[in-house]
Amino acid sequence: MIQLTYSGDEQQILNERKDALQQIHANLYDKKGEGSEFLGWLDWPSQLSESFLNQINETAETIRKQADVLVVIGIGGSYLGAKAVIEALSPHFSNNNDFEVLFAGHQVSGAYLKELLAYLNDKEVAVNVISKSGTTTEPAIAFRFLQQYMEERYGDEAASRIYVTTDEKKGALLEVAKEKGYDRFVVPDDIGGRYSVFTAVGLLPIASAGFSIDELIAGAKEAEQAYKSFDLEQNPAIRYAAIRHALYQEGYKTEVQATFEPKMNYVQEWWKQLFGESEGKQGKGIFPASVSYTTDLHSLGQYIQDGERTLFESFIVFDEVDKDMTIVEKDNDADQLNYLAGRSLQEFNEKAYQGVTEAHLAGDVPQIGLRMKKLDAHHIGHLLYFYMLACAYSGYLLNVNPFDQPGVEDYKTKIFELLGKPGYA
Ligand code: PA5
Repeated sequence: MIQLTYSGDEQQILNERKDALQQIHANLYDKKGEGSEFLGWLDWPSQLSESFLNQINETAETIRKQADVLVVIGIGGSYLGAKAVIEALSPHFSNNNDFEVLFAGHQVSGAYLKELLAYLNDKEVAVNVISKSGTTTEPAIAFRFLQQYMEERYGDEAASRIYVTTDEKKGALLEVAKEKGYDRFVVPDDIGGRYSVFTAVGLLPIASAGFSIDELIAGAKEAEQAYKSFDLEQNPAIRYAAIRHALYQEGYKTEVQATFEPKMNYVQEWWKQLFGESEGKQGKGIFPASVSYTTDLHSLGQYIQDGERTLFESFIVFDEVDKDMTIVEKDNDADQLNYLAGRSLQEFNEKAYQGVTEAHLAGDVPQIGLRMKKLDAHHIGHLLYFYMLACAYSGYLLNVNPFDQPGVEDYKTKIFELLGKPGYA
C-alpha cells in the first residue's frame, strides 16, 4: 500500500471534488467515460491467466538460452515500461557475462545504431520488436537494420530469434511477422501504449531480463484490488489525482517528481510519458518533470527552491533498501565526518528527504509524498498500476480523454511531408 502525505489541506480538496470524483469512479468501472474503449488495463492484472504468464516465461527462457543480448525495438509506451522496470530492478554495475536487454528504435541516431550493431558482433542476439500500430517510423527504421543484420548473420535461423509484439489483426509489422514466421505476441486492442507495461509489451523484455513477472503482476493485482473502492480517505490514487488537480487550479502548472534512488530514473521517464501524453491536451495539463536527488539538489534544486513559483513536488521514497552502507568512525577526523559515524546512507537520505521537503515547502513548493516499503518487483508493479489509475482520474478531472494522444500525430505528418512519404503532400 502506498502511504500518501500532502503538505496542504487535503480534506478540503477532497470535499470540493467529491461529486466529480464519484462520477469518474462510476464511469471508469462501468467503462462509460470518454476513451472507455481503452480501459482494458483497468482489470488486466486480475484477468491475466496463468497460461499467458507461463507462455511469456517460457519464451523468455528460450531467449536467454539462445542469446546473450535481447535487443528490444520500440518507442514511447512500447519501450518505456520495460525499460523502467528493468532499470529499477537491475544492479548498477553488471558483469560482462550477464544477460543484457538493450533498446533501439526509441530515437533515430546513426551513431547509436552503428555502435549497437558493432557491439552485438561477438554476442548471440535475439530481437523483440514492439509496435502496437505496427507502423511507427522510428522502430520500423531500427528494425529494418536489425532484421538485415540478423539475416546476414544467422541466415534461416534469424526467424527463430526474432519476436514480434503487435496488433492481432493489422499493421505492417504484423504482415512482416506473418511472412517471415516470427513468434508473435499481441498488444490488446483496448490497451494504449503507455498503459501496456503489464501486457506482453512490458512482460516479455522484463522476463527475458531475468525478473519475476509473477511478482510484478502480483503487485499490480494488489493495487488493482486496493484502489478499486471509492473510499476517498483510503484511496491514495484518487487522493493524488485530486491534490494535483487542486494545485493546478491554484497555478502550480509543473509537477517535479523526485526520488533519492537512481534506479528509479526510468520509472520517472515512464511516469512523464504517462501523465504528459494523457493530460497535456486542449491547452491544459500539468507539465511532468523529474529530478534525481541528491544529485539535482546541486543543479535544479536552486530553481525549485527559489525560481518561479509554479512548481509542486512529489516524492517517491522507500522505507527499506536492499543494500546499504554505514559510515565508519576515523581516528583522524580530517574530513570532519565523524558526526555521521554509525549512520547508514539510507538514514542520510531519509534526513535529506525531510530537510528538502521542509526547505522547499518554506519556499512555497507544495509537497506530496508517496512512500512504499521496498524497491522490488512486487512494489514496482503496485506503483505502476497506482500511477495509471491516478492518471485516469487526473485526466478526467481536467475534462480531457486520458487515453488518446492526438498531438503526437501532428509531428509525424510534418516529418512525412518533409521526407516525401507517399500519400503526404
Ligand atoms: O502511449 C502511446 O500510445 C504512444 O506513446 C505509443 O506507445 C508510441 O507512439 C509507439 O506506438 P506504437 O506502439 O504503435 O509503435
